[in-house]
Amino acid sequence: MTQTKYLIDERHLTKPRYNVNADIPIAPQPVLHPQSLEPVTPDFLSQIFPMGLIEQEVSSDRYIPIPEEVREIYKLWRPTPLVRALQLEKALDTPAHIYFKNESVSPSGSHKPNTAVPQAFYNKAEGIKSLTTETGAGQWGSALSMAGSYFDLKIEVFMVRVSYNQKPYRRLMMETFGGDVYPSPSDRTAYGRAILDKTPDTPGTLGMAISEAVEAAVTSGGKKKYSLGSVLNHVLTHQSVIGEETLKQMELADEYPDVVIGCVGGGSNFGGIAYPFLRENLLNGQKTRLLAVEPAAAPSLTRGKYTFDYGDTARMAPVLKMFTLGHEFVPAPLHAGGLRYHGMSASVSALYDGGYIEAVAVPQIGTFEAALTFARTEGIIPAPETAHAIKAAIDEALDAKKLGEKRIIVFNLSGHGYFDMAAYDEYLSGKLQNYQHPQPEIDEALSKVPEVTI
Ligand SMILES: Cc1ncc(COP(=O)(O)O)c(C=O)c1O
Repeated sequence: MTQTKYLIDERHLTKPRYNVNADIPIAPQPVLHPQSLEPVTPDFLSQIFPMGLIEQEVSSDRYIPIPEEVREIYKLWRPTPLVRALQLEKALDTPAHIYFKNESVSPSGSHKPNTAVPQAFYNKAEGIKSLTTETGAGQWGSALSMAGSYFDLKIEVFMVRVSYNQKPYRRLMMETFGGDVYPSPSDRTAYGRAILDKTPDTPGTLGMAISEAVEAAVTSGGKKKYSLGSVLNHVLTHQSVIGEETLKQMELADEYPDVVIGCVGGGSNFGGIAYPFLRENLLNGQKTRLLAVEPAAAPSLTRGKYTFDYGDTARMAPVLKMFTLGHEFVPAPLHAGGLRYHGMSASVSALYDGGYIEAVAVPQIGTFEAALTFARTEGIIPAPETAHAIKAAIDEALDAKKLGEKRIIVFNLSGHGYFDMAAYDEYLSGKLQNYQHPQPEIDEALSKVPEVTI
């Protein structure tokens, strides 16, 4: 009988995290202050983040230890299973072997607690009592609310309005963990009120919600810090536990991936699974393809520009060199709320620009078709974000079939979709649409990126 689950035990949690900055073959670009457009100082960053995380953000150490208190909590769900998708392979009649790393088994349902827990830990260690954040789909807000409950921190979540309306049970999950949730734009911040005055019917964006959360932190007189669930280097470093475990589990399977796939919003679950394999490519001569999958409705890598841009709409967050659609870009209200971001992590952007990773954009309806195929074969209903990775994995498996190749495919099952059933309802009742932005709209948003001379 062919083995299905590859499991490793808790001893493998002791491995430190992998920081891609140690090996990235491209000189890092400075992070800029949003007003002066000069490189940021730790003073500016420390209004937003605790020093423990700022140190990780700028570190070029290859490995960063995981504190004992964080490992204790990780043990509630880590290591997560690596599963061979035998039923899916059979349905596709492909010679490819498809594996998925099941991050949906975390208590809040996605990879997000891998960074929520250490972020809560480092804030608590510096005496912070409250964190503000944004959430798109609700997965990040749920994860941080859960982490807040472990470390007795109050969590304030600005949830993108369209998701707040689409996903009432996500809001209730956050409240169950003790979080306070507000639809963004909200009337709680000056920026939210300004947006509501101008566009009262806006669906909101992650960029706007980030602005509100940053404002709530920096105007708190030092009582609150801000926490970001993706994009930044320390977040991707926290997520590297996914890829490190996957490497071990592929050893158990006695196979090595030809392609590793993850969906990308800000890049954290993709970086989490892909970067340990990138290290093996760069240092040990492996040749795994690393494929980032984005929605056609928010195609920052495949249709954006590689340039400095603000991380948020109100221009309060640091400026990064990244693939961006422009910080004022408002993506269509697609169901993969966690992928509705205008930018991309700096390292994913630099690696894509340098040809070290690949990217593809997929349309919404195709992702739901793939999600149904997966649900009906493997039994897990994936998050709409995750369905992007599944679509690309299925396309790879069908391509391997056409070429008669035994391709080894690994994808990150970044989360489950049990709170996303309204999205499935829309798909099943034939109401779901594809969105493709006209180029002039993208050009208009791109014309607002800052002019930077470095
Ligand atoms: C299940 C799931 N997958 C993926 C993402 C995308 O984020 P990232 O690119 O940081 O992994 C999100 C974001 O909310 C998510 O909830």
